[in-house]
Amino acid sequence: MCGIIGYSGSRNARTVVLDGLKTLEYRGYDSAGAAFSAEDITVFKTGGRVSDLEKITPNIVAHAGIGHTRWATHGAPSAKNAHPHLSFDGRFAVVHNGVITNCDELKLSLIRRGIRFVSDTDSEIIAHLLSLEYDGDMVSTIDKVSSLLRGATTFIALKKGDERVYMHRNGASLVVGKGDGECIVASDALAITPYTSDVAVLCDGETAIMNATDVKFFKNGKQLDKPFGKTDRTAPKDCSCHMRAEIDEIPSALLNAYAEISRSITPAVSDMVRNAKRTIFFGCGTAYHAGLYGKIIFERVGVPSNAVIASEIDDERFIDENCLCVFITQSGETADTLIALAECKARGARTLAITNVKESTVTFEADETVFIGAGAEIAVAATKSYVCQLLALYMLSQERTEKRMGKSEIQALANAAKVVSKENLYAPEYKDFNPFFIGKGIDNVTAKEGALKFKEITCKFADAYGAGELKHGSIALIDEKSVAYVVSTNEHDEERVRATVRELQSRGAYVFAVTNSNRLGANKTLMLPKIYDENLYPVLSVIPLQNLALTASLCLGLDPDKPRNLAKSVTVI
Ligand code: AGP
Repeated sequence: MCGIIGYSGSRNARTVVLDGLKTLEYRGYDSAGAAFSAEDITVFKTGGRVSDLEKITPNIVAHAGIGHTRWATHGAPSAKNAHPHLSFDGRFAVVHNGVITNCDELKLSLIRRGIRFVSDTDSEIIAHLLSLEYDGDMVSTIDKVSSLLRGATTFIALKKGDERVYMHRNGASLVVGKGDGECIVASDALAITPYTSDVAVLCDGETAIMNATDVKFFKNGKQLDKPFGKTDRTAPKDCSCHMRAEIDEIPSALLNAYAEISRSITPAVSDMVRNAKRTIFFGCGTAYHAGLYGKIIFERVGVPSNAVIASEIDDERFIDENCLCVFITQSGETADTLIALAECKARGARTLAITNVKESTVTFEADETVFIGAGAEIAVAATKSYVCQLLALYMLSQERTEKRMGKSEIQALANAAKVVSKENLYAPEYKDFNPFFIGKGIDNVTAKEGALKFKEITCKFADAYGAGELKHGSIALIDEKSVAYVVSTNEHDEERVRATVRELQSRGAYVFAVTNSNRLGANKTLMLPKIYDENLYPVLSVIPLQNLALTASLCLGLDPDKPRNLAKSVTVI
């Protein structure tokens, strides 16, 4: 969570920092702040969004600055708790991304040393420690401070009277870019590419110091030779609703994904899949739903499989060197997923990441990586990245068969997605009804994803139910104020789903169906175009549910791109 940025260079730091924060705002948006270094360090903070910060930040001229957009962990979202935090003597300003797990004990020892805290955050500790431990050499000072901190402690700092920017990575991403007379560091390369595409990614435990012309990297006090490479990550155009744009992009994203995934399935990746005796798919939220899809289609090609919510890894006993563990994460930064990855490696499993972000942490940690090439996804709700994850899993499962998806087949799928992306199940007359998302087998995965999307961006309760399971309890919830969205794409299950539709209607529910069959007897049916392999229907059937959630959110006057209490990249546990 949280987006952090630092700049040193010939431009006005105010512009670069504030523009960068707008790009990073998807990572957290409950408060924001910035600090600039000229002779003094000047700090501006708001309990609002980056647009509010822009209003209160005067047109100062400074060539070094740092900024933060927050997702609160310690202390309410407010100007007082917004970063940057100043050290007690005003010598250092710090922006932090992460959670300091030993903050209580550190805070107590600092209070005993006479430090007065002005915020409720854990992050303020870092600023005070930098000043207390400063020994004239920032590399050794940062090493000392970071050795005292536990948890996720990535930070960027400014020092009074100094136009250099200092940074340390531990547990949350940091990418640094080197341009012509300027250097910029940020949580995501998206904030860097307006200025330069030459980037280097910091790894855990590394410190860097940058000025306008150079960046020096260190680990354990020793200078590192870190190469810069080109990033292809580019920020999308400004638009009023990123989620709308991202759903509309699904057809083209699928075509890009096909090319990127094909490139990513190297002989090493293919061998991993072919040799796996068992696969386990890990992910959180939407990525976990992609894992459920992976489990089903891998079992269909004969590989015993499981899907596990990454934060529930402790209950997954059967992980060993015969397992291929697959980590699905759009951002590549999700803490729960990275912790599960480390655990699987420790137990000897082979690890494969599926991600959308080439510079992300998961790519450094997993044995191999498949990139989904969906393009930057800014809206908190995952849409195009989810369907591209499904495509990656489908193409990986084909490594166990003689079949390969061809260019004409992906083109046909993209064309079908274009047709479906115009479909929307939203009907104003049912806006106050209680929503139920229903499916069986592979369609239950889509129902789960539909319910999650609906909850996430409408802030209304919704849940998914198995078509056959509903009558074993949850049907008690159904009445004439219920609306059911039934997904059915599998001929084998059609009869049972038809029976469920009747059971729902008999109790007064209005039933929408998303299906490839016109025999379900729903009140309203959205027919999916025919495609060549029914395993791919989940790529299509989820799109009308994404549109439903989006329209419901907009009709409620909410901002679907920035739902309540959430952030795009969940880097805390
Ligand atoms: C999806 O709409 C959600 N925002 C959320 O469930 C997300 O998929 C989850 O936090 C995992 O994120 P990741 O793919 O970046 O790991």
